[in-house]
Amino acid sequence: MDLSALEAAAREVMEPSAYDYYAGGAETETTLRENVTAWERWRLRPHVLRNVADVTTATSLLGSPVTTPVGVAPAAYQQLAHPEGEAATARGCAAAGALMTVSTLATVSLEDVAAAAPDAPRWFQLYVFTDRGYAGELVERAVTAGYRAIILTVDTPMLGRRWRDERNGFALRDGMRMANVPLDASTGGDIGRGSGLAALFAEHDRGLTFDDVGWLRARAGAVPIVLKGVLRGDDARRGVDAGAAGIWVSNHGGRQLDRAVPTATALGEVADAVGDDAEIVVDGGVRRGVDVLTALALGARGVFVARPALWGLATGGAAGVREVLTGLTDDLAHAAALAGVPDVREVPRDLVTPA
Ligand code: FNR
Repeated sequence: MDLSALEAAAREVMEPSAYDYYAGGAETETTLRENVTAWERWRLRPHVLRNVADVTTATSLLGSPVTTPVGVAPAAYQQLAHPEGEAATARGCAAAGALMTVSTLATVSLEDVAAAAPDAPRWFQLYVFTDRGYAGELVERAVTAGYRAIILTVDTPMLGRRWRDERNGFALRDGMRMANVPLDASTGGDIGRGSGLAALFAEHDRGLTFDDVGWLRARAGAVPIVLKGVLRGDDARRGVDAGAAGIWVSNHGGRQLDRAVPTATALGEVADAVGDDAEIVVDGGVRRGVDVLTALALGARGVFVARPALWGLATGGAAGVREVLTGLTDDLAHAAALAGVPDVREVPRDLVTPA
C-alpha cells in the first residue's frame, strides 16, 4: 500500500494548520525524517523452502489476542481529522483486529471511545500532571472502562518545539475539546503560548522518575504498565526492573527531542537489554510491510503507527483506518512469505542485516 499517496489525499481535505500539526515534528525535523529512512537502512536475508502456504499474522500483545501485530499509536486531537475522531479510529481498529492506544489528549472521552468498539482490545496512554490525583483518576477510569494496559509516555517532560505549529499559531477548532482533561473550553484549544497544550504541559510533571512506576502500578492494579518513549537499553532495563511489563521504543514520531536516534536504530539495543523479561513494541516512521517485518526481526512484538492511521481517518473515517491497517498487514504477510517466515511471532533476528 502506498501511504504517501494517502497522505497527499489527506492533505487535500485537511485544514493546512491541522495537517501540519499531524505531519510535523520538532525543530528541524531531523528525527522525523530519519525515522522513515532508518528502516530503509536494514536489509532482509530471506529463507527459502520454508512452507509459506499459510502465513499467519495473528499474535498477542500483553495477553490480548490480535489479528495483526500492527496497532495504532496514541495521537491527540483526532477530531481534527474526522468529526467522529477517536470513536471512528476505535471502530476501524476493531474491524482490522488491531489494537488501539487512546491518548490522554483525545477529543472523545475514554469511556465513549471504549463504547464505540466495546469488544476490541484497547490501551490507554497517560500523561502525568503535577496534580497526581488527577492522573490517578484517569488510570482508574481507564481500568474501569476495560483498557488493558496503561502506557506511560516518558519522553515528554515538556512539549517539543514544533516550529510549524508556532508559525501557524495552531489551535483546536471551536467546539473541539480535550475530553479527558479538566481544561475549560475557553483555554482548551490554543496551542500558542500561554494556553492550551502549552498551558497543559506547563502542568506536566517534570519530576517523574523510575520510582514513580511503582506508584502507577499500585493505581493500575492488575493492568500492566508500558513505558513509551524509551530509546536506550539501560533505561529499558531500569524500567523493567521498576515493574514495567512492556517497553515502547519511540521518539514520539520526531516531535520531542530533535536529533534523537531513529527507532529502527534503537530497537535492537533495547531488545537485547530486556530479553524475555518484558514485551517490546515500537513506533516511528513505519510505512511498509517490510518495515514491520524488520521491526519484528529486531525484537518487537507489536509495531505501531500514528500518522498513517490519521491519514486514513481524515480520508475515510473508520473505514479509512481499517484500510490502512489491513493494507499494512497484507503487505507484512506478503513480505513474510517472500522472506520464508510463516509466523510473525517467530521472526528470527538474523533475518535482517544492515544495508
Ligand atoms: C502523537 N504522539 C503522541 N504520543 C503520545 O504518547 N501521546 C499523544 O497524545 C501523542 N499525540 C500525537 C499526536 C500526533 C498528531 C502525532 C503524529 C503523534 C506520538 C505517537 O504516539 C507515536 O509515538 C509516533 O507518532 C509514531 O510515529 P509515526 O507512525 O507517526 O511516524
